[in-house]
Parts: sequence; C-alpha cells; structure tokens
Amino acid sequence: MINKVIKIAVSIALPLCFMGCASSNDTKKENEVIEKRVETLLRKMTLEEKLGQMNQITSYANIEDLSNLIKKGEVGSILNETDPVRINALQRVAMEESRLGIPIIMARDVIHGFKTIFPIPLGQAASFNPDLVEEGARIAAIEASSVGIRWTFAPMIDIGRDPRWGRIAEGFGEDTYLTTVMGVASIKGYQGDSLNSPTSIAACAKHFVGYGAAEGGRDYNSTSIPERLLRNVFLPPFEAAAKAGSATFMTSFNDNDGVPSTGNAFILKDVLRKEWKYEGFVVSDWASVSEMIAHGFASDETEAALKAINAGVDMEMVSGTFFREAPQLIKTGQIKEETIDNAVRYILRIKFMLGLFDNPYVDEKAPSTFYAPSHLVAAKQAAIESVILLKNEKNTLPISADVKTVAVVGPMANAAYEQMGTWVFDGEKEQTQTPLKAIRELAGNNIQVIYAPGLTHSRDNNAATIAQAANAATKADVIVAFVGEESILSGEAHCLANLDLQGGQSQLISALSKTGKPMVTVVMAGRPLTIEREIEQSDAVLYSFHPGTMGGAALADLLWGKAVPSGKTPMTFPKAVGQIPVYYSHNNTGRPAQRSEVLLNEIPIEAGQTSLGCTSFYLDAGFDPLYPFGYGLSYTTFQYGNVKLSAKELKETDTLVAEFDLANTGKYTGTEIAQLYVQDKSASVTRPVKELKRFMRIELKPGEKKTVCFELPISELTFWNIDMKQVVEPGDFNLWIATDSQSGTPVTFKVID
Ligand code: BGC
Repeated sequence: MINKVIKIAVSIALPLCFMGCASSNDTKKENEVIEKRVETLLRKMTLEEKLGQMNQITSYANIEDLSNLIKKGEVGSILNETDPVRINALQRVAMEESRLGIPIIMARDVIHGFKTIFPIPLGQAASFNPDLVEEGARIAAIEASSVGIRWTFAPMIDIGRDPRWGRIAEGFGEDTYLTTVMGVASIKGYQGDSLNSPTSIAACAKHFVGYGAAEGGRDYNSTSIPERLLRNVFLPPFEAAAKAGSATFMTSFNDNDGVPSTGNAFILKDVLRKEWKYEGFVVSDWASVSEMIAHGFASDETEAALKAINAGVDMEMVSGTFFREAPQLIKTGQIKEETIDNAVRYILRIKFMLGLFDNPYVDEKAPSTFYAPSHLVAAKQAAIESVILLKNEKNTLPISADVKTVAVVGPMANAAYEQMGTWVFDGEKEQTQTPLKAIRELAGNNIQVIYAPGLTHSRDNNAATIAQAANAATKADVIVAFVGEESILSGEAHCLANLDLQGGQSQLISALSKTGKPMVTVVMAGRPLTIEREIEQSDAVLYSFHPGTMGGAALADLLWGKAVPSGKTPMTFPKAVGQIPVYYSHNNTGRPAQRSEVLLNEIPIEAGQTSLGCTSFYLDAGFDPLYPFGYGLSYTTFQYGNVKLSAKELKETDTLVAEFDLANTGKYTGTEIAQLYVQDKSASVTRPVKELKRFMRIELKPGEKKTVCFELPISELTFWNIDMKQVVEPGDFNLWIATDSQSGTPVTFKVID
C-alpha cells in the first residue's frame, strides 16, 4: 500500500486583479498610460458621444443603418454579430468614419462554448474541477475571439436552489463556495493572462444579484432576500468575481424586496463600487432599464433612465433610454454630468485594456480554430468528469466484455441538437457526437447494437413505439436507455412546475424494466429531475447534465469502463417538487427532523394530534432529498478515516490543517471528490447546518491509500452577524470530511479570541 501525505490548499483568497494582476512596474505603467488615454479622449467627447458609449444595440441585417449610427458615435457596443467580415466592416466605420475613432466592443452569449460546446455550466460544476472550467472558458474565448467577439455575458454565478428555474442549467448550482471557485476559474479562462491578448474576451459576472432566488422558480420573478442572506449566500461569488478582475458585471432582472437590480444603488454603488472598489463597467440586462416601467418602479422611459444611471448602470443593453432621455435629465440637473463621465471612463478603460484601440480588427483569413482536436479532447474530458453515477446495482456498470448485444433506447440516444443544452447560438448539431454514434463506433463488429428509440423526442407520448422498443430490447444482453429533456426545456424563461420525465419517457422506462434485462438509464437534462421511480426501476443510473458536443463519446467510455465516473451532484436532487427549495446548507430550525417520523402511509386512523412527531418534515416526502448535494458514486469504492485536526483551539489568524486518510477499496482506479464541511454550532444569528469550505479531486489506484490534508484559514469562517458585520465569532465548530454533504462523522474545534 502506498501511504503519502499530500498537502493541498485550495484557497479562494482573493487577489485584487482588476488593473492587471501583477503589481509589476510594467503593469503600473500600462495602467497609467490607459488612464491618461481615457482622460484625453473623454475631454474631447460631446455629451451625445458619451451617451453613445453607454448604448449597446443588437446587430441587425442592414449594415448601412448600423454604420450610420456608428458614424454618429451613437453606439458603444453591439451584441450578437458573429460574422468576422461584418464585424471588421463595422469596426472600420467606428475607427475611420466616426469623429473620435472609438472601437465597438462586440458581445455575445458565449456560455458553455462557442462552436465546441462543453457541458452546461451545471454539468461542469458536477466535476468539482475548476481547471476544467477554466480550460473550457479559454477554449470558448479562443473560438469566439477568432470572429471578433471580445465580450461574453458569462459566467452566470447566481446561486440557484430551485430546479424548476430553467436557468439553473446556466449556473454552478446551489452552493456559494463551489460557485465562487468555478466563477473565478471561468473568468480566468475567458480573460486569459491579460485582456490585451487577441484571444482574451471580457467576462461578465451576472446577474447582479439574487436572480436565482426567483419566487417559485419562475424566471424573472421577484425575490425576497434579506441583506444578511444576500451577503452570506448570494454576494460572495460576485465579490470574488470583482476581485478576480471580471471586466464587467450585469444587473439582474429581478426586483429584490421591491427594488429592481437595474435601479438598485445599494448593490451597484454601496456594495460594488464602495465596498469592493470595482473598476470595470456595469451593463444592464436585455431591456432591464425600460422594464422597470413594467415592474412599476418607473412611470416612463425618462424615469427608468434616471433611476438606472443614478443607481450606477454604465451601459444599457438594447432599450436605448439612456441615449434618448439622459440629455434632458442632465439639463434639469437630475443626472450630473460627472455621473456620465464616470460611466464612460469605466467603459473606455475596458476597451483600452482589451487593446481594441490599437488592434480593432480580426484576421478574417486566419485558419479556423473551431473544433480543434485539442478543443474536442477537452470537451470530452469535461463531459466525462461532469457525469454523476447515481446508482449501480449488481455491478451493472461498467458493461462487461461478455455483453454481445446492447439495446440503445430512448429519445436522447441520438439527439444531436438536444444534448448540446441551453445557449447554443453557435453550436452545430452536425458536429455533435451522440451516444448512439459513439456506441456504434466503440462496438465495432464485436457487439451488436439494437437501436430502438421508442420515442422521437422527450415530449413524445407514442405508446405503440414504446412497446416496439421494449420488444426489441428483449433481444439484448443489456439495455441502455437515454432519457431526459430537450434543450429548449431548460434555460432562460424555460421553467417547469413539474419535474417528472416528460412525455412517455416514464412509461418507456417501465416497459423496459419489465423485460427483466439489466438496464442502465442515462439521463441527459438541464436540471435535476424527480426520477425516484425510474431510478428504482433501473439497475444503474448515470446523470449527465446536457453534455455538449462530445457527450456521446464521453458516455460510451463511461458505460464500457474506459473512464470511471467521478462527478458529484452540484445541487440537491428533490424527490418531489413540493420539497423545493431543498438544499443542504439550510438552517436547523428549532425542531429538526429526526428521520424517525411517521410518514403518510403509516399513520394510524384517527391518530392523535401530536402523535407523528412535531418536527420539520413532510408527511408524504419525509425530510431527505432524493440525493444530497455532493453525492456521486464510482465504479470503485472509497473509504475515509482518521480525520485529525492540527489544533483543537484556534484564533482567527490561524490556519486549520485537517488531515484524513482516503483508501480505494475497490477494483478500479478512480477519482474521489473529498469535501470538507463546517458548522458554526452557535452564533449571534443561526448558521447553516453545514457549509462547504474545501473540496479536492483525489485519484487512487485499487488498494492505494493516501493521507491528505486540507488547509482552512479560520478567517474564512466569517459571516454577517447580528450587527451586520462580517466577523468570525468565537465558539464551537463541527467539521466533516466526507464523500457528500450527508455523510461522515464530525470532529470538533473551537475558535477562541
Ligand atoms: C439574459 C442575459 C443575456 C442577455 C443577452 C438576457 O435575456 O438574461 O443573461 O446575457 O439576454 O443575450
């Protein structure tokens, strides 16, 4: 047995990176030059030209009309233009025909890939691998910048605890720490070492803030997040994004406690600018300025512009009210010219940092970077690491070499478009590897593949074709059923009140399970679905959030054991929609569930009022979810032991070292994602039962054992207390190192003054 101690400190200590990460003299000089150029340019600008910089318009077909606006200096940014020839032509108008020659910043939602599509961000989060997220963003930046796009609206770092919300697909899940780490990795990937490099694109931390807490999981809906919760749970990923130098921020659509983010001076000025000293620029969301009228927060466009500009929005996406309304608001003194100057400074600074003034054009003739072999390899690896093994009975997986006939069933088995997931403006289904294609390739002449989809798409309900598929499957040694959601069922505005499998997919799984053949179910979806029954009916289940271009190849490797699953749930999987919101990091209540409560079917007739146990649970769903946060199996097994802390009493300035043993007790080389959780047992306000503070991917060979340690500075145990101060409060803490958020035995330590 190998016995090593590995020391890994996965810290999110936040380096201030805005104007260049290094504090080297060169960077300082570059920054000074930029500041001078910004001021010189600003002095020459008319009010209209300044407001033009604050105006982002969407691209449209008529290039003459677009050019005329640019010539007049009325446009600062264009979104959704992807043709490099047109991009260059428009940029040429800006540089050569507008009075001051200010380049346009071209923007696009490049979210989980440009051409090479990576797993949706929720899937990437399941990898617990920030390196992979960074690499995915880097590749997306390389491909997108090759056509002249220099700004993406990503990462989405909204905490999402409601799988009904379609945009859960676009974020990193329910946890503040995981989202923080992944958000920073993604910004690093998009922006590269320096924004100035032609392959770097400006990131946009969105949606600031609270958007994921939409009531009822219905997109755009109001949120009610009190300040302490905002600061403890929703703001940290954004603070980290600001410190990591995200070039831009986007305001969110929601109104929190009655104030739409686009008109919220508290978050945009007090928090973002004053507390975090942010120096990038803030863009509204799509028409979120004029939508303040529908919110009932502004009576007309004039008031909408007034409130947004004075709250701290620097650029308006598409609704154009700044350009139209600000002149009169400045005349009447309701908006100070200084406010406009500052907004324009922020915008110009990013344009200078991107090198757009000196190098505005893209090389139209450069060899294509799309689908480069290294991009496909990275996308496949990302897809492999994002798959979660939820169940594996009777060693059904990996599929044995003895299997000679496999039935490939289900509407997602060969759905090239659907498996790419949400945000695939530029993805091409012709380039996508489906599971069917990959399985056929892997099978070659050795394994017979029976393809019987059963249903044509995820909402299809055809009982006759279900029966045909089940019948065909009886001839196979093993069935692999690919079910899930079409891409359009998740993403922006695509929310669901029912999270069961759509159409006839449940009936398909039932019919297949009745064949008595070993059955593997693979779910490809944009969110956790309520699939308790289908899991019971399957021998093994792999969950693959829409896995992108290389999803099929990744899944085929996992099914046949050429790769071993390592993903973990990035959010809690509910048993039933009625349990939502259900997340691991909840408060305890005064009456926590005991898990010995009497459930619906066990209740005696005419039971007494208090006979069921007065604790916090559902009569029909108990307390526990289907799968907790951080859950995922492997083909091998891991054993944790011997958790030891470097000290039992620590001060705020100390660093706790938590050591543990991890052994691979199974038959495959595999990677375990070890997780460290902490609970502050008693404080001036109630604290969550557990909070993730560290995680680590550890690869072990069969029989191998490692002693591993996490380092956790006690200063990272801060929270916003009863006096709304960010502090570490002395007292007792529990600490777990475990395979998921529901396992393990705690050890304790104390924080002293
Ligand atoms: C979305 C943003 C997106 C923007 C531009 C909005 O509807 O909320 O996330 O970046 O559109 O496409």
